[in-house]
Amino acid sequence: MNTSPTTRRRLIIDCDPGHDDFAAIALAVTSGAFEIEAITAVCGNAPLDCTSANALAIADALGTSIPVYAGAVAPLLHRYEFPAAFHGVTGLDSAGATLPPPRRALAPGHAAEEIVRRVNAAPGEITLVVLGPMTNLALAIALDPELPGKARELVFMGGGIVGGNVTPRAEFNLWADPEAAAMVLRSGIKATMFGLDVTNDAWIDRDDLARLRAAVPGANPVADIIQYYTERSGDIAAGRVPGPALHDTCPLAWLIDPTLFTIEQLPVTVDTVPGPHYGATDADRRSWVPEGGARIGVALGLDRPGVARLVTDALVDAARRIAQR
Ligand code: BDR
Ligand code: CA
Repeated sequence: MNTSPTTRRRLIIDCDPGHDDFAAIALAVTSGAFEIEAITAVCGNAPLDCTSANALAIADALGTSIPVYAGAVAPLLHRYEFPAAFHGVTGLDSAGATLPPPRRALAPGHAAEEIVRRVNAAPGEITLVVLGPMTNLALAIALDPELPGKARELVFMGGGIVGGNVTPRAEFNLWADPEAAAMVLRSGIKATMFGLDVTNDAWIDRDDLARLRAAVPGANPVADIIQYYTERSGDIAAGRVPGPALHDTCPLAWLIDPTLFTIEQLPVTVDTVPGPHYGATDADRRSWVPEGGARIGVALGLDRPGVARLVTDALVDAARRIAQR
C-alpha cells in the first residue's frame, strides 16, 4: 500500500511480544499505512525484560528506527504464571532461527510517561493500539486523567463475548490485568475491541504457512517463529482450526481495511470480582438497556480469507526484509 506520509495514521503500539504481537507489528510496519511513533512494551506473555527485548528485536529486525520503551513490570493487582506453554519462556521462542540481536538499545523513559507525553504533544492525533494487558495505558491515564479525550482512539485485542481462552470466560489480555482494562474502558476513551469473537478466526492456513516458508531460502526466522506458535495451538490440535490464529493482527488489519470486519457499538464491562468470571467481558445486546458499561465498538465478524491474505503478505514481506538486513 502506498500512503503518502501526510495521510498516514499516527500510532503508538503497546504490546507484549508474543508471536501474534510479532505478526501485528510486521503488518503495521510493512503496510506503509502508519506513522508508528513508538512501540511500548508491557509484561504479559512473558516478563517485561523479555517482552521489551522482543519488541526491540522486532522493530530493529524489520529495519525501522521506531523507539521502543519498556513499561509496567507487573499488572496493577493480578499475579499469574506467564503462559510459557504458548509463547515459550522468552515470549518469542522459535522452532529454529531467531531474530538477529538488535543493534540499538531501548529508548530511555517509562512507556506510560511516553504515552502521556506523545498524546499531549499531538492532541486528537494518536491512535493507541494495545495488543497486551492494558497496564501501561491504565498507568498513563492515572498520570493524566484527561488523556482519553486527547487520544484519537483506542483499538485493542482483548476480551470477547464468545467465551475465554485462559479461563472458560476470560481472554488472556483482559484477564492478566482486569483492573487496568476496567479503568481504561470506564475512562470514556473512544475504543474498538477485537476480542476472541473475531480473533479466534484470524487464522492462516497450511498454504499461507508454505508460502511464508518458501519466501526465503535458508534461514527464515519469521517462518520458524510462526511454526513454534503453530505447534502449540490447542485449537489446531483439537481440529477446530487448520492454522494458527494470529489474534493481535486484527486491530491493525481493521485500521488498514475497515471493510474486513463487522463492528457493533455495545456497552461492555470487565469483571474484576475474584472468582470464575474474573477478567471476563460482557457486552449487553439488549437494545432497551441504555446504560451498564462503556459503549464501545465490538468486532463481531471478519472476512477471514481477506485478513489471512493481508497478514500472510505482511509476514512474507517481513521475512524478506529480515533476510536482506
Ligand atoms: C492474546 O493473548 C496473548 O497470548 C496474545 O499475544 C494475544 O494478545 C490472545 O488471547
Ligand atoms: Ca499480545
